[in-house]
Amino acid sequence: MPAPTDHEPAVGCPVAHHGYEPFSMTDPFPAYAQLRADEPVMYDERVDCWVVTRYEDVKAVFDDWETFSSENAQAPVRERGPQARKIMEDGGFTAYSGLSARIPPEHTRIRKVVSKAFTPRRYKALEPFIRDNVDTQLRAMLARPERRGDLLRDLAYEVPTVTILTLIGADTGKVDTFKRWSDSRAAMTWGDLTDEEQIPHAHNLVEYWQECLRLVAQAHAEGGDSLVADLVRAQQDGDPISDHEIASVCYSLLFAGHETTTTLISNTLRLLLAHRDQWEALAADPKRIPAAIDEVLRFSPSIVGWRRKALRNSEIGGTAIPEGANVLLLMGSANRDDARFEDPEVFDISRGNAREHLAFGFGIHYCLGNMLAKLQARIAVEQVLTLAPDLELVDPEAITFGDNLSFRVPDAVPVRWDGADERPYIQFFDDDTAPRHELLGGKCASLVSMTQADMPVPPGFAVTTALYDDFVAESGIADGIARLLADLDPDDVAQVDAVSARIRDAITSRPVPDRLRQSTIEAYERLQSRFDEPVPVAVRSSATAEDLPDASFAGQQDTYLWLTDRESVAEHIRRCWASLYTSRAITYRLKNDIPDEGLSMAVAVQKMVNAKVAGVAMTLDPTNGDRSKIVVDASYGVGEMVVSGLVTPDNIVLDKVMLTVVAETVGAKHAELIPDAESHSLIEREVEPRRRERRCMSDADLRTVATIAKRAEKHYGCPQDIEWALDADLPDGENLLLLQSRPETVWSSKPAVSAASTTPPTDAPAKPRTGLVMSGITKSMTRPQSHR
Ligand code: HEM
Repeated sequence: MPAPTDHEPAVGCPVAHHGYEPFSMTDPFPAYAQLRADEPVMYDERVDCWVVTRYEDVKAVFDDWETFSSENAQAPVRERGPQARKIMEDGGFTAYSGLSARIPPEHTRIRKVVSKAFTPRRYKALEPFIRDNVDTQLRAMLARPERRGDLLRDLAYEVPTVTILTLIGADTGKVDTFKRWSDSRAAMTWGDLTDEEQIPHAHNLVEYWQECLRLVAQAHAEGGDSLVADLVRAQQDGDPISDHEIASVCYSLLFAGHETTTTLISNTLRLLLAHRDQWEALAADPKRIPAAIDEVLRFSPSIVGWRRKALRNSEIGGTAIPEGANVLLLMGSANRDDARFEDPEVFDISRGNAREHLAFGFGIHYCLGNMLAKLQARIAVEQVLTLAPDLELVDPEAITFGDNLSFRVPDAVPVRWDGADERPYIQFFDDDTAPRHELLGGKCASLVSMTQADMPVPPGFAVTTALYDDFVAESGIADGIARLLADLDPDDVAQVDAVSARIRDAITSRPVPDRLRQSTIEAYERLQSRFDEPVPVAVRSSATAEDLPDASFAGQQDTYLWLTDRESVAEHIRRCWASLYTSRAITYRLKNDIPDEGLSMAVAVQKMVNAKVAGVAMTLDPTNGDRSKIVVDASYGVGEMVVSGLVTPDNIVLDKVMLTVVAETVGAKHAELIPDAESHSLIEREVEPRRRERRCMSDADLRTVATIAKRAEKHYGCPQDIEWALDADLPDGENLLLLQSRPETVWSSKPAVSAASTTPPTDAPAKPRTGLVMSGITKSMTRPQSHR
């Protein structure tokens, strides 16, 4: 389509998109609200779509199929790469959308045939079967001794998949295979994949399509009682539908028929369990469940955006739309438009008009499977109310959603029941338990979540806050601490210092009960057993209050490096605990009214990295909030000197899309911290002038750091501040390790507009970065004083 001329946003300028990030799904709603208020029809060059956010506009476009065709609804958002294209061609992949991307008269013809086979009567007959399946899945989950589960994985994943496989007549023993194929379809069409990342998905799509062709051939040969067999019979009776079209319908239903319902069941239980009063109301009156499900579909639709293509010059809500333009209808936003729904940001199952949501689209393509989806969600709620009414969500605030343009799918819906032992003392980073901030603190939660997202994190484990809490309780120091802190004047430095010393002394000198001590030692031995020879570890504190969004509070706890035996590890874990009560931390909390109740500390114990170069990186420019840049601070040796501002690092600015260097300042890098094998510790040594004068890392390494930083930003859905290192013991190309990622708090907490107002236009000549040399990232933020 022609580039819009009357509406050109500054590329990379955050205000241009009102905070809208097309693929970020964890919390897109504030940006939707901003868009509705400021620019309800906005061209977004990143996805080449006009993004429509107001209810009336979204509905009107859905309704006007003659102007806005659905032919682009299934087009890949990112062009297929050459390898993926070849794999698909060679594999005979010729699938086309069953219905949603077809247009009249073809759409009308096929929909008529499919509707006949796809009767509510057919899936109504499935109801007892669905109920049985829900019952079996739930009972299996509830039988778990640890009394913990994940409603997405343990219930919502399998139930609708088995339903649609049964309906279609496909093999119900292959749930995982069909899920894998569907995930590939979602990622290949609506995901943000590189050419390389597309390759395995391309193979999956070939297999998926071949299975659809096989099902049609089988229905021809064997008949049977299935939707595919019905369509084949309809064809034989003279209905105008080809085998390729039947296979395409199959291809659509084997995706549409479960993917979105897995999300609906997950979201329904997630939202209802999070709103306990409404959950109880349903328990008292189950007839209200269907209305509650409509409210879930309004508040948190499985599909938040769907595409259309303008067939002629037209307008939406007063904005001119050129012929050929792509339009992205954000139903997730329309459903929260206060022009249609009162208090739209409130989840309320008694809302009178929730059914007016646009979660199933509107008009000629209105979702064919909506009743089946709602039926399954209703059964799921009924069965959970019967079998486990006391189910509780674990840390609902921490639930994240996968990146996608259209599908908003939670990564997990963790639950517990019957007073589960919800607070283990140890969690390895690669355990498959979802990270919980209150148990792991910010740093460990981030390490677990990055490890689980397959990012290159050095292995290790968290000593959780449960262990600290039990230590404080069992060693009897809790009351003493509270007494010492009561009425403390934060401005009385001498008094704060004295209190701090007494508390820290209590924490480091009281015996740790054997049971607690033993857990740590066992975990340490388990970590060591993963390596051929003993490895040194780092011990880092991970406070629960560390990453308060409005306070760069990091830096008030400790990191200890290069520890080589279990005694010193145990001792340094205690020192981390004690660092909760440094004078600075105490003063900070008192001055910021952060209560001490519930204050706790987890500790990360992690294989030490033998860093030759290390540093930090931010996915925006910390000097002005520009999100189109990645800024790297790097210096020789272990990163602690960069982090604590003890050296002036190299400061390099990269373009976030091209990953090219756009500005750089070589820092003084006068010293480096390196491991000393003999003393088992780190020593500081001077960097020779020759190495000081040149940049400490290559363009290729910078690109790798920037790529990982981008992945972290994508994973968390907001700008990140990462710590990384290049390990001297690992081969080039595989030696980048991620040590920490946390949300950038300084610019991210400001309204986008102020960030933008200080953002220089991207076509301005690159400014010399002198003056920022000393500032760089490390001086722009409050960072840890972490090297002791
Ligand atoms: C919560 C669950 C579901 C949601 C949110 C959902 C959503 C949607 C949406 C947004 C559309 C596009 C509407 C448009 O372009 O105007 C659609 C179309 C469609 N859906 Fe669903 N869907 C769900 C479940 C299902 C199920 C269970 C099935 C099948 C068993 C299904 C089959 C279809 C089909 C065949 C179409 C294409 C209709 C056409 O183009 O004529 N959907 N759905």
